[in-house]
Amino acid sequence: MTFLSATLTRVKPSPTIAVTTKAQELKAAGRDVIGLGAGEPDFDTPQNIKDAAVAAIAAGKTKYTAPDGIIELKQAICAKLLRDNELSYETNQVSVGTGGKQILYNALMATLNPGDEVLIPAPYWVSYPDMVLLAGGEPVFAPATADANYKLSAEQLEAAITPKTKWFIFNSPSNPTGAGYTHDELKALTDVLVRHPHVWIMTDDMYEHLNYDDFEFATPAQVEPSLYDRTLTCNGVSKAYAMTGWRIGYAAGPKALIDAMRKIQSQSTSNPCTISQWAAVEALNGPQDFLAENNKVFVRRRDLVVEMLSAIDGISCPVPEGAFYVYPSIEGLIGKKTPEGVVIENDEVFATQLLEHSGVAVVFGAAFGLSPNFRVSYATSDEALKEACTRIQAFCASLT
Ligand SMILES: Cc1ncc(COP(=O)(O)O)c(C=O)c1O
Repeated sequence: MTFLSATLTRVKPSPTIAVTTKAQELKAAGRDVIGLGAGEPDFDTPQNIKDAAVAAIAAGKTKYTAPDGIIELKQAICAKLLRDNELSYETNQVSVGTGGKQILYNALMATLNPGDEVLIPAPYWVSYPDMVLLAGGEPVFAPATADANYKLSAEQLEAAITPKTKWFIFNSPSNPTGAGYTHDELKALTDVLVRHPHVWIMTDDMYEHLNYDDFEFATPAQVEPSLYDRTLTCNGVSKAYAMTGWRIGYAAGPKALIDAMRKIQSQSTSNPCTISQWAAVEALNGPQDFLAENNKVFVRRRDLVVEMLSAIDGISCPVPEGAFYVYPSIEGLIGKKTPEGVVIENDEVFATQLLEHSGVAVVFGAAFGLSPNFRVSYATSDEALKEACTRIQAFCASLT
């Protein structure tokens, strides 16, 4: 008998965290490494949010709270969902957790039974399949390929739904592709979901505010109100407010599901950090104008990266609508050799060789379920991005 649980053998550690750690190790060993692996903005948390946290500490707001969040934060979340998404929720339909990750995990733990399928468009955020496995369900993938700008069609969704499908996980703008579904593209999917009343929708709106050009964000229950009773709308302050370390995520949905999620949280972590909750109240209720300022920076970086990577023979790079990632295809490089004769057999070899030769850390596509690709996070300085893309160009040019 092994000491570790059988469930644990079903999951793997997060490959994105592994890449970031590897890049940090090489840097610590004196190598000149540019990390394009991290999934967090390089901006600092806005000052008004930090001030709110300091004020909370000074006021002694440092004790336990209700397990799934203070009422003031739930009210701020309800106001945000109405303001930004035209969705009306009561505070007892809201759950606050330690990051978006815990919220999604709670929802899966609260609902999955052995044999239940969770439909996930691929490429996907690395944690979805493993969370499903940890919760005892079966991840099922539907490929959303580069020729469709990494978006799932209504036909693909229809074909992938089975009688065992419990959840459909939707993420727009997406990690890892940055693809964002327009209102009409999303409506095509929700029309399918309306016809399958046994399927619930878990929408991960984490990158809602990070979108560019004329893109208008939309979320499933807003586009198709008849799905309201089987939609869990998940979001958080991590990415838009540069608060990844504060660990606040939230969801709104049917009360019975929210109650079940609270039960899990109350017997595991209890409340998310009290001080962070007060900071999140300020994030959601305070001034929002810095979001547009940050987006100006992100769109400039996106354009820089897309242009420099698209100039490479063998790489094609669709222009994403949002988030801070691009997901170029390296189809044209597969089979080529490095100067030492290493064959680029797949995207993992590409990423390893790129790191070794050029000191640029990216995450390989297989980690996200669609190959041959790699993910670049452009949440870093223009200078670092220019240098990294110049090195990627030189590395690719060295392949024969
Ligand atoms: C799509 C997506 N959802 C959720 C999360 C989790 O966010 P948090 O840091 O709030 O747990 C991430 C973080 O990388 C993400 O990319």
